[in-house]
Parts: sequence; C-alpha cells; structure tokens
Amino acid sequence: MDIRVELTKNPKAKPTDESNLGFGHVFTDHMFIMNYDKGQGWHDARIVPYAPLELSPAAMCLHYAQEVFEGLKAYRTADGSVQMFRPEENFKRLNISNQRLVIPEVDVDFCIKALDKLVSIDKDWVPHTDGASLYIRPFIIAVDPFLGVRPADSYMFIIILSPSGAYYSTGLNPVGIYVESNYVRAVRGGMGFTKTGGNYAASLIGQDEAHKQDYSQVLWLDGVERKYIEEVGAMNIFFIIDGEIVTPELQGSILSGITRKSVLELCKSWGMKVSEKRISIQEVADAYDAGKLNEVFGTGTAAVISPVGKLKWGDKVMIINDNKIGEVSQKIYDTMTGMQYGKLEDKFGWIHKLEG
Ligand code: PLP
Ligand code: COI
Repeated sequence: MDIRVELTKNPKAKPTDESNLGFGHVFTDHMFIMNYDKGQGWHDARIVPYAPLELSPAAMCLHYAQEVFEGLKAYRTADGSVQMFRPEENFKRLNISNQRLVIPEVDVDFCIKALDKLVSIDKDWVPHTDGASLYIRPFIIAVDPFLGVRPADSYMFIIILSPSGAYYSTGLNPVGIYVESNYVRAVRGGMGFTKTGGNYAASLIGQDEAHKQDYSQVLWLDGVERKYIEEVGAMNIFFIIDGEIVTPELQGSILSGITRKSVLELCKSWGMKVSEKRISIQEVADAYDAGKLNEVFGTGTAAVISPVGKLKWGDKVMIINDNKIGEVSQKIYDTMTGMQYGKLEDKFGWIHKLEG
C-alpha cells in the first residue's frame, strides 16, 4: 500500500524550552491515518497535517470503548540521527490487543514503514535535550456510527507524535507508590494484558486516591485475592530482594511491557539472578521488615526506569533504600537510556535507526 503525503502549509512553532516539555502536551505538524472497512481491509494510508478528527457522535469507540493503543519513543543521538527502541514489539503487541478487542490486525512491517515515514517528515520535532524524546502514540478506534453492541465494521488507525520530557515530574528521583487494596484494575480472562483505554479508565479512581495521599501512582494487586502484585498504572514493577531481581509473572491480567522484557534480558546477560513469579505484597513487606528489600523500580516506555522510594500498603509505609535511587536501578537506567540515545553499543539488536 502506498502512503499519500500532504504536508502542512502552516508549520507550528517548535517548543523552545526542551527542558520543560512535560509529557504528552505538545503535538507535531503531521499524523498518519489509514482506514479499515469490512470487505476492503486497511486502505487509504496517508500522512496529513495534524488536525482534529471528524467523527460521528455515534462512533462506536465513543460508546463501547472498542479501541487499542501503543506507546514508544524516537530518540535523538549525539550525531543528530534519530532511532527507536524495538518498534516491531509495539506493533506485535498492538495485534495482541486487537485480537482481544476483535479489531482487525495490522501488518507489522507496513506499520514500521509508515512510522518511519511520519517520523522522518517530523524529524525536526525530535528533541535534542538529554532525557527528552519524541513519544509516539499509535491507536485504533472503531468508527461505525451505530449504537448496537457488536464489533465494528470500520476503524481508523492513527499515529500521533508528541515531543515529551519525563513522565513523572520528579524525573529520576524516586516516586512514592500507593498499594491499592480496595479497587482492582483487571482480572484474568479480562483485558489487563492489552493496551486498551478501558484498563486506564478503571485505574483512575485508585490514582485519584493515591494523589490525595501524595503518592504518584498505584500498585495494583490481583483482582481475585487482592494479595499478589500485578503492576503500576503505567509501568511494570520489579523488586530486588536479597540480591534477586523479582517481577510478577505474566498471567493474563498485566501488560507484557517491552521495557520489562528488555530489563529481564539485560539483567540475565549480566549474570544476575532474575525470576518472574507470583509474589504477594505480604512477601514484600516481610522482606522489608527483614532488611532484605534492597530496591524497587518500575519500567515503562514513558516512565523509563523509575525508582520507587516509598511504598504504602494499608497503614504500613516502607521507605526503600533511604528513598534514594539504588545501585542496580541506576545501572539499568544508564544502560537502557545509553542504548536508546546511542551512547552505548546495542549488543541486543534492539535499536531501529531511522534512515535518511
Ligand atoms: N503497564 C502498563 C499498564 C502500561 O501502561 C505500560 C506502558 O506502556 C507498561 C506496563 C510498560 O510497558 P512498556 O515497557 O512496553 O512501555
Ligand atoms: C507508555 O509507557 O507508553 C504508556 O503507555 C504509559 C501511558 C499510559 C502514558
């Protein structure tokens, strides 16, 4: 499929202060769109000026939340070139989400081609400042104007780009996390393993409570027994207990994070003891009381590696590693960002360079 290009006649001014971008506020000049119609497949691929969408008020995504999304980044290297981190993993995961939400799958190679073309056109928007990057948001929405409940016949696949800084205003400083014991985010058999808006809608009430108590995000427990650790609002979670790196196993209710997967591979390559297993919040609290909870950190595209300095579970407040970034978290952060920004050699084949 060819990609038609219509360039903007009114380019916007780019942010002048890249150290103050925040996350997800600014959008570039162009976006990628393609449509799907039953019987026709994906068609009409185009890059057009960034603008509001025209959508029927009856569009199905607005009523029954048939939508999926992804999140990845483009990074500027010291020599001025642009590169991405494992983009094919994002489009493969998009198809996993698509399957669960009965949305037609996309061609991974074509999506990468479309993304390369879009980022090349808006290349000057990729920030030059360390720590900032171009956040990429591909998403699919069901657009049939229809109020019955069924999988839609028409969809739009869109990619928008947002020059962004740190997801948390604290940057690499440790975040405080609140363990949610009342509400649950997802259960096995549900949609927890997908990236769909509904999961995030379900998480808002917990996040609100966390913010009221001055914590940045929520750590979710399993939806059945409310004992076992799942993940944080926008990242997977890792614990270092007595020198062993532990993260919850993938069992259907948490997202299979690409950063999570990469950190596991990286730590294994360093010869560290790493395990993916079911772990309860009680085990974490016991390790803390025994002085064996060495470090806690979250992983995610937006959050990168985010040290956790404080964990609140009921009345118990655990201060981890003196509320400072731990040695291992720092090493993982330096290595991951080193590869992403092209300062370190990519021994794993994770970097996708933008041509031209
Ligand atoms: N868990 C949730 C709920 C997320 O939204 C994210 C962010 O994408 C992650 C985990 C981390 O996934 P990834 O490392 O692929 O960005
Ligand atoms: C990401 O890390 O890409 C995410 O999707 C987090 C997000 C919900 C802001």
